[in-house]
Amino acid sequence: MKIKYLALAVAVLAVLAFAAVEILQKPDVVGTSKTPQQTAAVPLTESKNGPSIPKQKALVVYFSYTGNTRILAEQIRQNVDGDIFELQPATPYSTDYDTVVKQGKQEVESGYKPPLKAKVANLAAYDVIFVGTPIWWYTVAPPVATFLAEANLAGKTIIPFCTHGGYGAGHSLEDIKKLAPTARVFDELVLYGSSKYEQKDILAWLSKVGFGE
Ligand SMILES: Cc1cc2nc3c(=O)[nH]c(=O)nc-3n(C[C@H](O)[C@H](O)[C@H](O)COP(=O)(O)O)c2cc1C
Repeated sequence: MKIKYLALAVAVLAVLAFAAVEILQKPDVVGTSKTPQQTAAVPLTESKNGPSIPKQKALVVYFSYTGNTRILAEQIRQNVDGDIFELQPATPYSTDYDTVVKQGKQEVESGYKPPLKAKVANLAAYDVIFVGTPIWWYTVAPPVATFLAEANLAGKTIIPFCTHGGYGAGHSLEDIKKLAPTARVFDELVLYGSSKYEQKDILAWLSKVGFGE
């Protein structure tokens, strides 16, 4: 009988001890769950490290006929804190590739700059402009030439990128500098036209032009 009472007493003590541990742990649990909420509620500008400086806002401007440069432009935009704008000629190019190859040759050789369907409305808001083009007859496509010649790019930083069909960037970089003489023009990203680009190539180039992590 005595042993029975002793066992009961030990069991009661064990339950009490477990309850005591639970109560003592509770403030910790509440404290932990509060911490992230408090952190999230504090605006970055009031952090103990002082005001945070936002990254320079960039604009990605591009023209694309068959879609390769558009894919690259989207990938670049995803890696910079920026907006994107697609250049389109007021009169769309034919959907027949061979027709456009011939027309493109004439336009490039004559220096024709086709009127654009729309202009970037708030260019003044951006200091850095990524400019993307397919290579047409060894240089920028005519709608990109129109943008570079017509936009007020004085004091802006232009970071060019292009896609090509196997013959490289040609003299596109020199021509961009001639078309936008008042801008600062960085090294061009030159990639073979594709539907998928290596993230590491884009990141290495972004880092080179000052947009690295
Ligand atoms: C009119 C025209 C001219 C082209 N000229 C060249 C060229 O000189 N060198 C080259 O490597 N590729 C040339 N290409 C191929 C394109 O540069 C290449 O396919 C590019 O990735 C297309 O980009 P997009 O899909 O954004 O239009 C030309 C294509 C067209 C339509």
